[in-house]
Amino acid sequence: MVDAVALRRGCVAAIDGYGGGYFHERDWLRAAFLEVPREHFVPDRVWWPTRRDGRFPLLDRNERPGQWLKAVYRPLAALITQIDDGRVRPEDGPAAEGCFTSSVSCSAVIVDMLHHLDPQPHERVLEIGTGSGYTTALLARRVGAANIVTVEIDPDLARRAAGNLDALGLAPHAVVGDGEGGYAAAAPYDRILSTAAVRHIPAAWPRQVRPGGVIITPIDTPYNTDALLRLVCDGQGNATGRLIKPVTFMKTRAQRPRRSYGELGWPGWSEHRVTVGADGQRIDMGRP
Ligand SMILES: C[S@@+](CC[C@H](N)C(=O)[O-])C[C@H]1O[C@@H](n2cnc3c(N)ncnc32)[C@H](O)[C@@H]1O
Repeated sequence: MVDAVALRRGCVAAIDGYGGGYFHERDWLRAAFLEVPREHFVPDRVWWPTRRDGRFPLLDRNERPGQWLKAVYRPLAALITQIDDGRVRPEDGPAAEGCFTSSVSCSAVIVDMLHHLDPQPHERVLEIGTGSGYTTALLARRVGAANIVTVEIDPDLARRAAGNLDALGLAPHAVVGDGEGGYAAAAPYDRILSTAAVRHIPAAWPRQVRPGGVIITPIDTPYNTDALLRLVCDGQGNATGRLIKPVTFMKTRAQRPRRSYGELGWPGWSEHRVTVGADGQRIDMGRP
């Protein structure tokens, strides 16, 4: 018999083993991960994100509960809850094609994002992309659900997430709408966390964060991957920061179409300066 609590502990141990941040110096985060039942947020039927025999397999809790639960606690896997904005349905079985449009995010990545967000008790947080509500529940352990505004663009997903959270006694301010506009009515926030990737930072986000507040979001890069970005805001609508590491996320709805990287402010290829010498090679940015 597979036990969720044991799997959760195993997942924490695996994430601890990855090093490089994660739960490091964040005891609240480890405790939150151990307390929040991730399985509660995962629908009975979800797609596995890697193709097998050309299709994305469907994991069915009722048919194979052990397989489903083990998948829930695989530390490096997101579970796909929506394809093509709901046009591909779980009832149709394994999916041959389609674009992933919602998931229960990968545990290790969410832990890492919350590590870098570093919310303090009772701070006000705006979350973009509620999805299943799982990340919201982890955040709520730190700041309290009443201090969270969470925005989801898909009404069906938002309704399900609200139900998931409500069943655990959590009542954040849940908004159905386009999170690229933030949520001005409850601004300013101490932190913004987006679990949908952007190609450009929506102007509303830094405008709605207090001076010194932080934005954590995945951003598309020209390097064939998204990257985790940490920005610090000045309270005047400006923000600066650095890329942290590569990640992979679904794009916000309006930012799905590709855009020219030059137009988005990325350096051109010739702005990567390569130096080679006895000490090895170094690549940095700067005009040639
Ligand atoms: C990767 S999922 C978030 C998963 C969530 N962290 C969890 O663990 O359940 C990204 C979510 O962002 C939502 N989304 C996409 N564009 C959005 C937008 N402009 N505003 C708000 N939500 C958006 C999608 O519908 C999707 O549910």
